[in-house]
Amino acid sequence: MDILNRFPDILEAAQQQADHALPGDIRFEAVFDRHSGLEAQKANIEKGIIGAGRLILGDNLQVAKTLRAGMAAGTIPPANLVYLDPPFFTRSVLTGTVAVRDAEGGSHVIATESFADTWKDAEEGTAFEAYLTQTCACIMAARELLAEDGSLWLHLDHHAVHYVKVLADAIFGGPEHLMNEVIWQYKSGGATKRRFARKHDTLLFYAKDPRRCKFFLSKEKSYNRGRKPYRFKGVKEYRDDEGWYTWVNMKDVWQIDMVGRTSAERTGYATQKPYALLLRILNACTREGDLVVDLYGGSGTTAIAAAAYGRDYILCDNAPAAILTAESRMVASGLPFSVLCGHPLLGEEDIAAYLASAEIPEERKVRLRLIPHPPRTPEITVRFDVETEEVDAQRLLVRVRVSRYGIAPEDMPVKARDRALVEEAAAADPAQMIALLMAGPDEQPYRPLAAARRGEALEFFLPRSGGAQLQAIKIVAKDIFGNSCTELVTRG
Ligand SMILES: C[S@@+](CC[C@H](N)C(=O)[O-])C[C@H]1O[C@@H](n2cnc3c(N)ncnc32)[C@H](O)[C@@H]1O
Repeated sequence: MDILNRFPDILEAAQQQADHALPGDIRFEAVFDRHSGLEAQKANIEKGIIGAGRLILGDNLQVAKTLRAGMAAGTIPPANLVYLDPPFFTRSVLTGTVAVRDAEGGSHVIATESFADTWKDAEEGTAFEAYLTQTCACIMAARELLAEDGSLWLHLDHHAVHYVKVLADAIFGGPEHLMNEVIWQYKSGGATKRRFARKHDTLLFYAKDPRRCKFFLSKEKSYNRGRKPYRFKGVKEYRDDEGWYTWVNMKDVWQIDMVGRTSAERTGYATQKPYALLLRILNACTREGDLVVDLYGGSGTTAIAAAAYGRDYILCDNAPAAILTAESRMVASGLPFSVLCGHPLLGEEDIAAYLASAEIPEERKVRLRLIPHPPRTPEITVRFDVETEEVDAQRLLVRVRVSRYGIAPEDMPVKARDRALVEEAAAADPAQMIALLMAGPDEQPYRPLAAARRGEALEFFLPRSGGAQLQAIKIVAKDIFGNSCTELVTRG
């Protein structure tokens, strides 16, 4: 059946998905915030305040539902900007890269799975319908999070943007809600000879209310024809190495370098967007202190840009490797943040209570679609060597080293031919398999005293006496694939 005829059904099914996503129980996993007191953090958790500066591992519809409940309760402010960078319907598994060293010290870049952009046929339709339905459900859920003057930026490419644009217009209440269609143009390797090289993405900038939408005008250089001065009356002209130019209002075609193979900001996570792109979006639609939400967070570019420019942010992704990448970037930035884990409410009682709530219209209750549990995360074994050194009467210096790492070959998200290489690398230098190593008191929430990124040593001071005396230290290691392992070390 013609996909256009299916649009009303897709919107209906998307609304059902958005309605029926069960809110999750979002729990703090780690709080990297040495500025606000632990007591204040605990009090917030008790009150159900998720707060800002958060990375959440969980399904975006469930996370959006939970945030919505927090907004209704007044514990979370509405979002000033939501950025959505969903899978593009490439129908492929997106692979990133990770480098490992073999026993002789030789470096190898191997492909690892970042996330799947593969779609099965829907119950009553094609794979493309399944994609459109899920993407629209997220747009609907995201729109609900917006402040009255808020905006939603939707990042897509030629695979689906034209279809999603028509559906998103309907979700927002008409095409007048589309403020801009921004073309992000970039250079990248690889081009076919059978058609023009595809070197742009499309960003759809929607306003919840076009008359009230926050927008801060930016200027850009516009070079004169022939790079020569025009000398028009009243027009200020400037000159740089490239020639004469004027400052004009920024246009809707943006040339920004993509995150290339040699780019310093490259994390190895597939489809990472450039920091400069997110910064431009944040500058256009938010101010310091505003809340930015990203429901397809990936490598965490939105979090990094938001944190660096004083915006609060809540970013979620259902791939552990994505949250690990974002977390490592935040640790490197030294800015405060926390990691949360969204547990779906799938117990019989939870579902019954949820269905009984007034939120879901009666006629929709029968078609409840449960979101499956997040996929099983593989078990890894990590052995730590912990050394302590008495520094003075008050402090003990603690050093943690990774001395062994193990993962079952079938659990490695790499091609079968690379498994032996991973095993060799793990045996030669187990520490290189750990992307993030943390240590802190065994408390809820977990507040690491120190965190080390891949290749960095973990060293921290422990108080030796007084109220802050620690009973046990919890060491958490996250491997380069996003799997975690925890160990409790009791102080001797
Ligand atoms: C195109 S990538 C985002 C890239 C990101 N903007 C960046 O700069 O790295 C899309 C992300 O959406 C995540 N994703 C897909 N479906 C999701 C869902 N239902 N809930 C949460 N995250 C999802 C994928 O794991 C992937 O990391």
